[in-house]
Amino acid sequence: MKILVTGGAGFIGSNFVHYLIDNTDHTVTVLDKLTYAGNRASLDGLPADRFAFVQGDIADAPLVDRLFADHDAVVHYAAESHNDNSLDDPAPFVQTNLVGTFTLLEAAREHGTRFHHISTDEVYGDLELDDPARFTDSTPYNPSSPYSSTKAGSDLLVRAWVRSFGVQATISNCSNNYGPYQHVEKFIPRQITNVLRGERPKLYGTGENVRDWIHADDHSSAVLSILQEGRIGETYLIGADGEKNNKQVVELILTELGQPADAYDLVTDRPGHDLRYAIDSSKLRSELGWTPRYADFTSGLAATIRWYRDHEDWWGPQKQATEDRYKAQGQ
Ligand SMILES: NC(=O)c1ccc[n+]([C@@H]2O[C@H](COP(=O)([O-])OP(=O)(O)OC[C@H]3O[C@@H](n4cnc5c(N)ncnc54)[C@H](O)[C@@H]3O)[C@@H](O)[C@H]2O)c1
Repeated sequence: MKILVTGGAGFIGSNFVHYLIDNTDHTVTVLDKLTYAGNRASLDGLPADRFAFVQGDIADAPLVDRLFADHDAVVHYAAESHNDNSLDDPAPFVQTNLVGTFTLLEAAREHGTRFHHISTDEVYGDLELDDPARFTDSTPYNPSSPYSSTKAGSDLLVRAWVRSFGVQATISNCSNNYGPYQHVEKFIPRQITNVLRGERPKLYGTGENVRDWIHADDHSSAVLSILQEGRIGETYLIGADGEKNNKQVVELILTELGQPADAYDLVTDRPGHDLRYAIDSSKLRSELGWTPRYADFTSGLAATIRWYRDHEDWWGPQKQATEDRYKAQGQ
């Protein structure tokens, strides 16, 4: 297949592109606008006979139309993805996550292209810390932030385009990812790179918020299964039973890097910060036989810490500007 990957210069998209090149015979084109979150260097070294890069906007209808005409399938990762930024300025979130997804769906409808839409468990809102429930594909949508509400809206557009126009689409909602090539503004890379630079990690509030962590490679293998074998119109939740609170994650990072486990600072919590996310991925596991490779969060985290230690050339240029931005927001 010829697969078009939108947002392939971002964190999860670039991991998916490497996964496809390493584990399949498909050829891949990345369409990416290279916003501050995109990094062309994350795609360095890929074979020229199987990989092409196009810099452009998913809301550019003529460009999207040309690319869809030339590809068998599209996996749609491109998004404005950072909650904190969405609280500061929601406009790009509405433009890319809603108008951009609409533009792609219209092209999928025109060309009959197989379309897989990448989304997040944040569309379901949050759970109480002591609630034993986990999200399933029938959990009602209840997003909290401009980020999660625009992702929720994009999921609903996909469902409507399947039902109204017969678009051949599937959706996946995944829990929080960690792994190589993640921007240093995000929680785990920010803490790792702070410690590597001799600075103390910053923990929001009291650090009790729980996230259900999954390694980006496991997200990629799940997406590939859905693309190949998923039922059209279905939503699959992707998760690896990796629930940890933020305090536990920071303590693990400090310990792995040889620091005292309590060598961190508390900073003001983000407004509306979701308490807990937890994914029930049994539909994906039973229907498609998917299982994660990194069932153990600690070993996946250790591999990620090694990657950041060995790739300061990749993250170093982003670090100062990111910390300056957090400082301006009082964090
Ligand atoms: N990071 C997570 O833990 C997580 C979890 C579940 C789902 N997701 C979803 O996965 C997708 C990718 O997330 P990520 O963390 O890799 O994000 P990211 O911010 O690292 O990457 C997004 C990429 O999209 C590109 N992009 C942004 N606007 C664009 C536009 N208008 N046209 C073309 N390209 C554009 C950026 O340049 C960047 O390369 C998103 O849809 C996100 O909602 C992320």
